[in-house]
Amino acid sequence: GAPIEVDLTPIAEGQDIKVFWRGKPIYISHRTKKQIDEAQQAPLSSLKDPEADSARVKAGHDQWLVVIGICTHLGCIPIAHEGNYDGFFCPCHGSQYDSSGRIRQGPAPANLEVPPYTFVSDTKIQIG
Ligand code: FES
Repeated sequence: GAPIEVDLTPIAEGQDIKVFWRGKPIYISHRTKKQIDEAQQAPLSSLKDPEADSARVKAGHDQWLVVIGICTHLGCIPIAHEGNYDGFFCPCHGSQYDSSGRIRQGPAPANLEVPPYTFVSDTKIQIG
């Protein structure tokens, strides 16, 4: 599939949108300060799939989280803004992801995957 461009300006702080890339749902979250702080301050030792938040977002664009919305357990689509970690909740078997899309609780073995993307301007990304 071809790369897609997404304009971020309509996404208010604290909101998410879902777009499709190569047939996969992609969540783009405009994180709040609280969500960013939680993501940055979670001790790596508390994570099942340890990955720093800084490795999952683009430098200088901490407020944007872009993840593939496919649960790493058995492939359901998690719901944004649900669960105990200010992130995503998978209704199929209860996996809970945090505001960095990292698995925090439940059967999923790995973090939500970050797709390849780049910022083409401060308000636009290209996915793929
Ligand atoms: Fe998401 Fe099982 S598919 S928890």
